[in-house]
Amino acid sequence: MTALIEAIGLAAGYGSLAVVRDLDLHVEPGEVVALLGPNGAGKTTTLLTLCGELPILGGEVRVGGQVTKAPLHRRARAGLGLVTEERSVFMSLNVDENLRVSGSDPALALELFPELETFRKTRVGLLSGGQQQMLALARALGRRPSLLLADELSLGLAPLVVTRLLRAVRDAADGGVGVLLVEQHIAKALEFADRAYVMSRGRIALSGTAQDLRGRLDDITQSYLSGAPLAQAGV
Ligand SMILES: Nc1ncnc2c1ncn2[C@@H]1O[C@H](COP(=O)(O)OP(=O)(O)O)[C@@H](O)[C@H]1O
Ligand SMILES: [Mg+2]
Repeated sequence: MTALIEAIGLAAGYGSLAVVRDLDLHVEPGEVVALLGPNGAGKTTTLLTLCGELPILGGEVRVGGQVTKAPLHRRARAGLGLVTEERSVFMSLNVDENLRVSGSDPALALELFPELETFRKTRVGLLSGGQQQMLALARALGRRPSLLLADELSLGLAPLVVTRLLRAVRDAADGGVGVLLVEQHIAKALEFADRAYVMSRGRIALSGTAQDLRGRLDDITQSYLSGAPLAQAGV
């Protein structure tokens, strides 16, 4: 199967400074792939480079098997959905307006998140963080993307909301969408993912099936918390 997106020997960063190096990853249709790692590991940099927001400093990115340097707006039109770390909603617009300006199918978005129905005419700035994030995800999925890149969907949200969001991501993947999910909640992400990559200091330190990594959760967590290199932590 041709990967929806693939990075081969990717280097990425800011100006001429690479903070991500030698990165190989791919996402296939129908799978949730978690990109894990501590703060500063390079997850956001990777995501922004994969979607065309940051320039490629080395290696390449392929979309549907084709090498590309297309900017985000072109990739968005070609089926890439992005939810960034900053909540991707307009606070001064209401829910309906947010869906409209993002080109989402409102019926689909509200079917995915019926919780938003009663707030259709409510200014989004008045909603809870969880509701705002549901809307951010609804906006992206309401455009029927083939590939979704999501950065820290669960940041600062209550566990029940986190589960709700990741469940929606899982359902989208079960419907054929390929998802790359950046997460700090490692255990939670591995519950919903098929595979995962663990980043450390700008590189992929570890990768495997979610099932495999779930069995090594203590080791993986410990190696983050201690700040020791993964090899020394016996992972
Ligand atoms: N706009 C920027 N300019 C320069 N360096 C940056 C910028 N954003 C992030 N970095 C650096 O890149 C590294 C990786 O950051 P980031 O990709 O945001 O990590 P993560 O998302 O895993 O927390 C960090 O060392 C960070 O300081
Ligand atoms: Mg980040």
